[in-house]
Amino acid sequence: MRTPDAVTARAPAKINAHLAVGPLRPDGFHELRTVYLAVSLFDTVTVRAGDGLSLALTGEGAEAAGGPDAVPTDNRNLVWRAAELLADHAGVRADATLEIAKSIPAAAGLAGGSADAAAALVALDALWGTRADRDDLLALAAQLGSDVPFSVLGGVALGTGRGEQLTPVLARRSWHWVLGIAGEGLSTPSVYAELDRLRAEGRVPDGRTLLPAEPVLAALRTGPAAALGTALANDLQAPALGLRPALRRALRAATDAGALGALVSGSGPTVAALAEDEPAAVRLAAAMAGEGVFRTVRVVAGPVAGARVVPG
Ligand code: C5P
Repeated sequence: MRTPDAVTARAPAKINAHLAVGPLRPDGFHELRTVYLAVSLFDTVTVRAGDGLSLALTGEGAEAAGGPDAVPTDNRNLVWRAAELLADHAGVRADATLEIAKSIPAAAGLAGGSADAAAALVALDALWGTRADRDDLLALAAQLGSDVPFSVLGGVALGTGRGEQLTPVLARRSWHWVLGIAGEGLSTPSVYAELDRLRAEGRVPDGRTLLPAEPVLAALRTGPAAALGTALANDLQAPALGLRPALRRALRAATDAGALGALVSGSGPTVAALAEDEPAAVRLAAAMAGEGVFRTVRVVAGPVAGARVVPG
């Protein structure tokens, strides 16, 4: 079969409607119990036949080249590593030009880098004709990062282990959110380290008993939106607020603007604010934008599918 000259795949951002973090494990990761939800903000990765690997970046974050929030365009980029990993797994040469078109801001708690890696795996599998099945892709994804398997899977899922062990969850309906994106990114390892510090000082619960996900799972199954709004929980919110005190005002801004619930997404600093329906989300976005604490606000809905080739 002839392989294509170019393939484009897209993958969604995620929010964690529930993120319970256990104690630090000997391997440097924390045990999680999390409920991932894929939302309608997408990065795309286009791959073309090439000689060796090269990587280019456009869109969100591309202008930050050289700055603290810069996305690397060499072998430190997860897309580059995804290409090497798939080539190695399939026994083919890692030959491709890789182009990431970013809409998901980097270091925002939205798994943008994981989305890029997931899209790259799916696109390169089609370009190279390596025919990895879903389980192979999920196993490769887990080697790239804790959130990458979910970026492949999409939808709604319960994540355990370090987040890479997934159980799909059925959602009865679509949920409408406003993402309030703050100016500067937060580094995920530093937010986890701040949580460990707060725990060592006894300022937050030690995490030996993981907060149950049932309230969020029940709300996702049966609605109404207000029930999901009150069930939202994130153990990384306290350390994110510790490192970025301005986030407290951002969360208040979301609630003042009429959100049914608001929380820091993943390790932050994005604030995810829940609305009743799409018109309410549009109104909430306008009100949040007017609060003057966010760089951008985006209206999104989820669940949406995971990494997919875009028909071209
Ligand atoms: O898996 P990933 O590369 O995205 O993780 C980045 C960092 O986030 C890890 O090196 C670790 O510091 C922290 N982390 C963690 N526990 C997890 C997931 C991530 O401590 N379950």
